[in-house]
Amino acid sequence: MNIVDNIRTTHSITRDQLAELLDTQDQELLEYLRQQAQQVAQSIYSNKVFIRGLIEISSYCKNDCLYCGLRRSNHEAVRYRLTENEIYAACENGYTLGFRTFVMQGGEDAWFNDDNMCRIVSTIRRRYPDCAITLSLGERSRESYQRLFDAGANRYLLRHETADKSHYAQLHPSDMSFDNRIQCLYNLKEIGYQVGCGFMVGSPYQTIDTLYQDLQFILRLQPHMVGIGPFVSTRHTAFEDFSNGSVERTLRLLSIIRLLHPHVLMPATTALGTLHPRGREKGILAGANVVMPNLSPLAHRKDYNIYDNKICTGDEAAECYVCTSQRLSQIGYQAVVDRGDFKE
Ligand code: 5AD
Ligand code: FES
Repeated sequence: MNIVDNIRTTHSITRDQLAELLDTQDQELLEYLRQQAQQVAQSIYSNKVFIRGLIEISSYCKNDCLYCGLRRSNHEAVRYRLTENEIYAACENGYTLGFRTFVMQGGEDAWFNDDNMCRIVSTIRRRYPDCAITLSLGERSRESYQRLFDAGANRYLLRHETADKSHYAQLHPSDMSFDNRIQCLYNLKEIGYQVGCGFMVGSPYQTIDTLYQDLQFILRLQPHMVGIGPFVSTRHTAFEDFSNGSVERTLRLLSIIRLLHPHVLMPATTALGTLHPRGREKGILAGANVVMPNLSPLAHRKDYNIYDNKICTGDEAAECYVCTSQRLSQIGYQAVVDRGDFKE
């Protein structure tokens, strides 16, 4: 049996198999990997791609992650915080366009404390009982996650960034804790959230071994969602002199993750679209099944600069939505606007 069939049928991978799939130049094997991943995704989700509306609520962040354009020590970054009414207006706009999942993402901004954030979540929950509410607001206490869940949030995205503790320390300042980040993910899962972890592909100091750890972590955590995108070298960060991650390697990893954890919801990320004009389409064809068009108000779009040259910063939400559905139909996929829950 070849290596791809082996991974697909056992839902496991060895370090050597990973090394071979990431390093091989055998085009036939690579095409087989891609096809099998696509088939596995289609057998569960058919040709449907779930669309999530992304609302970037704050570019303030108390953290100083070495890779990120929004790190607190980047004094060139423009900081903004959406008002509650701007957030509600973005949801209303999105709902009218057909979105049934709202993803509220932001830096770790003290203004969005539990009282404020719970009020926002419960307002959205009351207004749109048929929608899923996803949060991506970084590390918080278990009590905080519980309160937000009780207020009506259903899903939480928190990339683990790397499952290798010493690699984590190379990507983050010493006041950030690997153990706490991993604990957050388990807390979220225990509370009952649908949970998403993930990592950048080609982050500085990443190796086959750290990637192998990432895959083993995914198999242990059994997340509902996994977000991976290429590292994008960004000005005014500690890693501005490193090169971008590889689009090709990202696609191979998307396929491998689809084979290992077939039901996972996996976005073709904006970072992938930033490094290649058809990056998101390639991501879908490699096994991804989610796209997250931007619903943030145009006035602040260009200021949510996690990384440089981010796409879609000049488009109205409606344009982003139409563009996304057209791109999907061009490759034979259908954008669907229901909640798109994880299928057990
Ligand atoms: N390139 C690509 N992705 C990045 N992220 C942060 N900085 C970068 C970068 N320079 C990712 C991180 C974070 C998510 C919100 O964005 O993985 O979890
Ligand atoms: Fe945003 Fe195309 S997805 S403009």
